[in-house]
Amino acid sequence: MADSVIHADKLSETQFEYMKLIAELMEIRKRGEKPVAFIRTYGCQQNVADSEKIKGMLSVSGFVFADAPDDADFILFNTCAVREHAEDRVFGNVGALKNLKRKHPQILIALCGCMMEQKHIAERIYKSFPFVGLVFGTHSLHHFPELMYSSLVNGRRVFERGNDDNKLYEGIPVRRDGVFKGWLPIMYGCNNFCTYCIVPYVRGRERSRETDIIVSEAKEMINCGYKDITLLGQNVNSYGKTLENKTNFSQLLRKIDQIDGDYWLRFMTSHPKDCSKELIDTIAESVHISRHLHLPFQSGSDRILKAMNRHYDRKKYLEIISYAKEKIPDVSLTSDIIVGFPGETYEDFKETLSLIREVEFTSLFTFIFSPREGTPAAKMEDPVPAEEKSKWFRELLDVQEEIAAKRCSSMVGKTEKVLIEGKTGKDNELIGRTSGNIIVELNAPEELIGTFQNVKITKARNWILKGELE
Ligand code: SAH
Ligand code: SF4
Ligand code: F3S
Repeated sequence: MADSVIHADKLSETQFEYMKLIAELMEIRKRGEKPVAFIRTYGCQQNVADSEKIKGMLSVSGFVFADAPDDADFILFNTCAVREHAEDRVFGNVGALKNLKRKHPQILIALCGCMMEQKHIAERIYKSFPFVGLVFGTHSLHHFPELMYSSLVNGRRVFERGNDDNKLYEGIPVRRDGVFKGWLPIMYGCNNFCTYCIVPYVRGRERSRETDIIVSEAKEMINCGYKDITLLGQNVNSYGKTLENKTNFSQLLRKIDQIDGDYWLRFMTSHPKDCSKELIDTIAESVHISRHLHLPFQSGSDRILKAMNRHYDRKKYLEIISYAKEKIPDVSLTSDIIVGFPGETYEDFKETLSLIREVEFTSLFTFIFSPREGTPAAKMEDPVPAEEKSKWFRELLDVQEEIAAKRCSSMVGKTEKVLIEGKTGKDNELIGRTSGNIIVELNAPEELIGTFQNVKITKARNWILKGELE
C-alpha cells in the first residue's frame, strides 16, 4: 500500500492564547513570583524530545524549572509503556506524590506520554490516583496549554486520549535540556507492528517532517553551538514516505551533512529491514555523521525473527553488517536484543549468542521479553519460566562483556576525537564520547566540557575507555 501524503499543521494561535492565560493566572496565584514546574521523563529519546516541547510551552507560559518536585506548582511525568518495569516505576513514583499533594493541595499533578494512550492505564490512574489532575497522551501535545488551563481554572480532573494519530504539528516551542547535545525529531510514529511492541499503538502511524524544516532546525542548532545532534525516529530508515516531495533518509543526511561547522550527526533508530547500502555509503562519505550504527536485531534466530514480524533474517542482517564494516572500517556497532520471546528455545537463544560473537558489538541494550497488553505476542504461548530466561540473560551479558572488553582493548594506543560531556564525579575527572559513542574518562580541566578534544586512549575497562589529552 502506498503511504499517503501527510501535511503538517501549525500549532494554533489559540494554544498561544492559552499559554498567555496560564501565565496571567499563575501570576495572580503566585503574587508575581515565577511559577515552578518539575518534569520527569521516562523512556526513550522520543519522550525526551516531547518533554522539551512541553517545557517550551511551559516557558512561554512563564514557568521556570526545578530539579525536584517539592517546591513545584506543576508536576508532570512523561511516561513510557515499552516494558512492564517502566510502567511499574511510574506507578510507584506517582503514588509517592500523594503526600505532597496533601501538603500543598494547590499543585497540579499531571501524567502524559505513551502509557496514557492505553485505555486500561488511564482508567487505573483515574480510579486509584484521585490526586492526579491532568492526563493526556502522545497525540494531545498540540493542545497541552488548553488542557492545562482548563484543569487549572476549573479545578476539575481533565483526562484526554487523542485519536488523531495521522497528524503532525510544527511551530511548538522547544526548550532543549542540553546546550551542546541535542535531539532533533525527524518523524513520529511507527508502522512496523513488531509483535512484541506497544509503540505503534501509543504513538500512531509513521509521519515524517518536511526536509526543509529539519535542515533549517539543524542549521539553527549548529549555529547555537550544538556539537552532537541526534536525529530521532522509531525507524529513521523509512523517513520521507509520507512527504509530497519524496526524500529518503540518506538524502536528508547528505543535506544536513553539508551544513558547515564542527559537529557530529547521529541518528536512531535504524531498522535492519530498511537499512540500505546507500545509507552506509552516505555515512562512509560524510564529514559529520558519526561512525556508529545502532542496528537492533532483536534475535539471531530466523524462526523468532519471523514470529516477531521483523521482516529480515539473520543472513540479511549479517550482510548489512559486513558491508558496513567494509565501507566504514572503524564503525562502532550497537544493538537491542530481546531474550525470552514467547516460544524461544535455548537453541534459538544460542543463535543470538553466535550472532553477537560474529558481529562484535561495542555495546548492547538487552531486555527480557515483557508482555504488553494489546500486542500479538502477549497472547502467544510462553512456556519458558522466568528464572530460565534470567539465566539466558546473564549468559548473554557475560558473553557481551568479553566482546566489549576485546573491542575496547583494541582501541588502546589510538587517538580519538572525543566530545567532552561532563564530570564523572571523581576529582578532576571528565567524561566524553567518541564518534562511535564509546565512553572515555580522562583527567582534564572543566572548561573543556562541550568541546571536541583529541584523546589518546591509554586503557580499557570493559566497555569504558580511559585516556589523556593529546
Ligand atoms: N523502534 C526501535 C525500538 C524502540 S523500543 C527499533 O525498532 O529498533 C526499544 C527496544 O525495546 C526495542 O528495540 C526492543 O529491543 C525493546 N522492546 C520493545 N518492546 C519490548 C517488549 N515488549 N519486551 C522487551 N523488550 C522490548
Ligand atoms: Fe516497536 Fe518495531 Fe516500531 Fe521499533 S520498529 S517501535 S520495535 S514496532
Ligand atoms: Fe517508551 Fe514511548 Fe519511547 S513506549 S520507548 S517512551 S516511544
